[in-house]
Amino acid sequence: MNGIKFDFSNVIHPNIENGLTEEEINQHANRIQDIVEMIKQKNPGFLSLPFTRVYIDRVLDLKTWIQSFESVVVLGIGGSALGNQALQTALNPLNYNVLSKEIRKTPKIYILDNVDPDFIASVLDQIDPRTTLFNVISKSGTTAEAMANYLVARGIVEGFGLDPKKHFLFTTDPEKGILKKIAEEEGIKTLDIPPSIGGRFSVLTPVGLLSALASGIDIIDLYNGAKEMHKRVTNPNIWENPAAFNALVHYLYYQKGYNISVMMSYSNKLFLLADWYRQLWAESLGKKYNLKGEIVNLGQTPIKALGTTDQHSQVQLYNEGPYDKVITFIQLENFERNIKIPNIHCDLPELAYLGGKNLSALLNTELAGTEYALTENNRPNLKVIFPQINPFNVGQFIFAYEFQTAVMGSLLEINPYDQPGVELGKKVTYAMMGRKGYEDFKIEVENKLKNKKQVTM
Ligand code: PA5
Repeated sequence: MNGIKFDFSNVIHPNIENGLTEEEINQHANRIQDIVEMIKQKNPGFLSLPFTRVYIDRVLDLKTWIQSFESVVVLGIGGSALGNQALQTALNPLNYNVLSKEIRKTPKIYILDNVDPDFIASVLDQIDPRTTLFNVISKSGTTAEAMANYLVARGIVEGFGLDPKKHFLFTTDPEKGILKKIAEEEGIKTLDIPPSIGGRFSVLTPVGLLSALASGIDIIDLYNGAKEMHKRVTNPNIWENPAAFNALVHYLYYQKGYNISVMMSYSNKLFLLADWYRQLWAESLGKKYNLKGEIVNLGQTPIKALGTTDQHSQVQLYNEGPYDKVITFIQLENFERNIKIPNIHCDLPELAYLGGKNLSALLNTELAGTEYALTENNRPNLKVIFPQINPFNVGQFIFAYEFQTAVMGSLLEINPYDQPGVELGKKVTYAMMGRKGYEDFKIEVENKLKNKKQVTM
């Protein structure tokens, strides 16, 4: 098999006592078949993306221009940033930005996904606006954080007397939003986010592709991986479809009270894929209403963890705490770099067993140990195995999890593509920051806050 593998052995009975039985899985085989067919028919935007050339070609057309900069700064948040961070961390050296220009060859990449002034200032300190491209990413063109950071960057560009057309690129909705309007008026280049694809499903659109290509990532191979995974996840047979199987595993455990989905990467480079997954699973599936409009308040809480680091922080809880977690390990078989532990202190048994071994062997042995212990403790756990890290395998992973989320949405009978739960907080911010049109709402919020009982210490 080409690329990543899924190992579901430790979610089933008798490998763990309370594991899912084959019969239980087969009972849902027809439903899964129908769901897969239904998703194929409805064809949500992300599904046909790997077969659509227009978006990737437009990004490829800009390659020489974007790679001519010293730095590329992405200004976006949520689905407009998390995929970029995951791609950069997985597919470039972890110290990419501090490598010399001769080694790096392509621009440094910064992703500003917050409005914490300490953070923003620390990045601005590192760049020279004259050799920087600011890629503002916002599908809606309304998100306060992305817009504020755009204005900050714009102020700097103007302060240096630079032409905004030469230093800004907007990635946004092709029809709507303020970014599109500014771009049209001022001749700033834009990249389209397909209207049918929401933020957290958009990493394989220009949202994630631009900064990936800027730093030299092979975005065509990213698509090739997604294409290959498309074949696997559109298979209606539950026993041959890793995304549908994984969704069903999570669904069946969720029905039994397993409210938490932990993704624990035993690779620092793959860790931010867990961060990306965290948003995808949380924002897509955490819903108040089902498709019939009934109040259901559903959702499994995703947690990210890093092995071995979090063995010394979380694993005690995973092994002995409540039976409420499905744990997904991400395993990397072949690391790009390796370090042999020197044979020093060979006379000390406490250290001698480590000498001569590779750090990667220790890391993967610790994974095997954690997996064994969880299984012995009857904790459902599964593994996504990367033979190595490359764009093809990362493209596969992304596509598999997007499809898995769509299947889980259908199993839960909710809409995985909206996020009404984040709207209220956004509206309050607009009102309190004095956005036009929110005056009455501001008064309403202030009155509510005034009447609240205070417990401040
Ligand atoms: O997944 C989503 O839709 C959200 O997380 C958005 O990506 C996030 O809110 C940013 O939105 P926008 O790209 O419109 O600025």
